[in-house]
Amino acid sequence: MQNLSIQIEDAVKYVRQFWQGTPKVGLILGTGLGGLAEQIDQQASIPYSEIPHFPVSTAPSHAGRLVCGLLRGKPIVAMEGRFHYYEGYDLKQVTFPVRVMRALGADVLFVTNAAGGINPQLDLADLVVIEDHINLLPDNPLRGVNDDRLGPRWPDLCEPYSKSLIQIARTTALSVGIHLHKGVFVAVSGPNLETRAEYRMLKQMGADVVGMSTVPEVLVAIHGGMKVLGFSVVTDICLPDHLEPVEVPKILANAAKGGEKLAKLIPLIIEQL
Ligand code: HPA
Repeated sequence: MQNLSIQIEDAVKYVRQFWQGTPKVGLILGTGLGGLAEQIDQQASIPYSEIPHFPVSTAPSHAGRLVCGLLRGKPIVAMEGRFHYYEGYDLKQVTFPVRVMRALGADVLFVTNAAGGINPQLDLADLVVIEDHINLLPDNPLRGVNDDRLGPRWPDLCEPYSKSLIQIARTTALSVGIHLHKGVFVAVSGPNLETRAEYRMLKQMGADVVGMSTVPEVLVAIHGGMKVLGFSVVTDICLPDHLEPVEVPKILANAAKGGEKLAKLIPLIIEQL
């Protein structure tokens, strides 16, 4: 297999043909949350399929483009659509774009996702800032020989989600009247949703929201020395004793509703960096 560092270099070289900026922030827009990309003063929009070594997104409502430009005057690079483990990619492929964002110069990663609400205080379309995570994926993107140029063998996870960024997010949300919960995100492999017994277990473990993404990207961002801020939008309610069948159109509608709040909040946070 070709060396990861060389693959990253190839991808960066390709992106550099279209955009020469140095992003302050890398932004991953999750399922149904692509609306924020419209606010970016786009200087380049590159389909994933054209970028060397990028996988191609198969999930619904994922556009599959790397958008480069300015958001509130700050240079950023955004993934419109992400890759999931359940699509069949391995976690090195899932997280490859984060490596590329890092190599382009981003030292902060903003990550968003659509998630199930396990904490009974959560309502549909609510926003949660992620304060910590539990990884239940059966693989790890950092497994294998470590490339010391990319990061340390044993990255520390005592503060994967930056406390200072969480504080900025909370103060900013308060100032514009957006209710922002704080909680623990648990990553599961999917593609199936969970059983009642599993939701019960996840709640007992200490999880507030559950989703099929985010943790691999965060692990790679931390490995690369980035600061991370993460948000979940609650798209379905996972109360084991009141569970209703989930419908994808409803999930997407709730993602869009919560996404409007994120589209207001995230630019205001980026402006302060
Ligand atoms: N479980 C797992 N992933 C999800 C869910 C859920 O309930 N909702 C949105 N993504």
